[in-house]
Amino acid sequence: MADTELMDKLVSLAKRRGYVFQSSEIYGGAASVWDYGPLGVELKRNVKEAWWKSMVHERDDIEGLDAAILMHPRVWEASGHVSHFTDPLVECLNCHRRFREDTLLSEQGAGSPAELQCPSCGTRGKWTEPRQFNLMFKTFKGPAEDSAEIVYLRPETAQGIYVNFLNVQQSARQKVPFGIAQVGKAFRNEITPGNFTFRTLEFEQMEMQFFVKPGTDAEWFERWREQRLAWHREVLGLAPDRLRYHPHEKLAHYASAAGDVEFFFGGSIGDEGWGEIEGIHNRTDYDLGRHQEYSGKRLEYIDAAAGERYLPYIIETSAGADRVTLAVLANAYREEEVEGETRVVLSLRPSLAPLKTGVFPLVKKDGMPERAGRIHEALRARGIPSFYDESGAIGRRYRRQDEAGTPFGITVDGETMENGTVTVRERDTMAQARIGQDQLEAYLRERIG
Ligand code: GAP
Repeated sequence: MADTELMDKLVSLAKRRGYVFQSSEIYGGAASVWDYGPLGVELKRNVKEAWWKSMVHERDDIEGLDAAILMHPRVWEASGHVSHFTDPLVECLNCHRRFREDTLLSEQGAGSPAELQCPSCGTRGKWTEPRQFNLMFKTFKGPAEDSAEIVYLRPETAQGIYVNFLNVQQSARQKVPFGIAQVGKAFRNEITPGNFTFRTLEFEQMEMQFFVKPGTDAEWFERWREQRLAWHREVLGLAPDRLRYHPHEKLAHYASAAGDVEFFFGGSIGDEGWGEIEGIHNRTDYDLGRHQEYSGKRLEYIDAAAGERYLPYIIETSAGADRVTLAVLANAYREEEVEGETRVVLSLRPSLAPLKTGVFPLVKKDGMPERAGRIHEALRARGIPSFYDESGAIGRRYRRQDEAGTPFGITVDGETMENGTVTVRERDTMAQARIGQDQLEAYLRERIG
């Protein structure tokens, strides 16, 4: 399958199976905004929960936080977003479509704007002067649309962590080095969004800010870089040959070292198909320093034992929940020939799959539907998300769940009625095992993880 085809196939499967729908579709769709359907919302929740478990629940040195989206407007002056969070915007004088000048220059290998060709209408060299366009969405607090009442929809979750640094450190009685983790929505008025859920106007971030003593930051950066790459590989199961670390050559104004975890999506995403799914940055003491300056409040960490006070350096790991979920989907998509038909399989890790089991009566008689219904309900009651399906040939029912990514198919047949065993079909290998009904939960739990 060509890389470009994969994304088209994923978009179509996502809609067909209820993973992702275009926002406001009945009105013609809202560009670059997507809604997660019944299976998509479960998959994304499982990705976020896997992250939270690794970052917060399994560690003593990271605390969780859920800060508000709306913040004091001075936060965004201090962070540099009001002055720096801009892209150079140019408009084609012929068709009036707008583009990022820097993206066009690098895509077309052009040395100057005069050489640029409009990707929409093909006109060459007819552009407005570039204008710095701020990517933050603005709105107003209260009834007056007054500039004094401007508030921003946060473009990253990180700032909510920085302004709460001392609240968390003191209330949780943490000592540096320690981290604060948060999952939440962020908004960016991207000039050229697109590629399905890869670049959208509204998205979710899973960010962790790790506060360290200055001088130990380079070592911590290295440690986090390795841990995050290992997480994508080992916890999500992303294929090692589709993952890479790409160091930044040009650093943001706040960073002393930075790089991206990239996944190979193929098609027109990123650099020849390699797209960033997570950024890892050494943000130095820039953020705490700026908030200390703009708020007038001391944000230093006091190390009483060592008799020291200092502004910690910050190592940030910032993953996009939507991009990571898209990587998980792209990584799982397979097509194979089975008995002259194409079988589409979403080979998701059982721990991430939205549904863990499909439960099927072989036929709609002889007490099989009732027996299968009871198994389905018992699994659900024990916290194993399950789907009951009695319609159509058994082969078709298996295929529907293969495509939805459900790892186990449980079939109630004549033998079940005689001796209480069911068949458990494994999605990827299609191998079937006969398991006693009383062993079923333990069998599944061992494999779901
Ligand atoms: N606090 C640092 C920060 O926000 P970033 O590299 O701009 O860094 C981090 O963003 C992650 O957020 C990216 O790796 C990506 O996964 C996700 N992300 C950023 N912009 C996005 C967009 N427009 N649509 C979807 N995800 C986005």
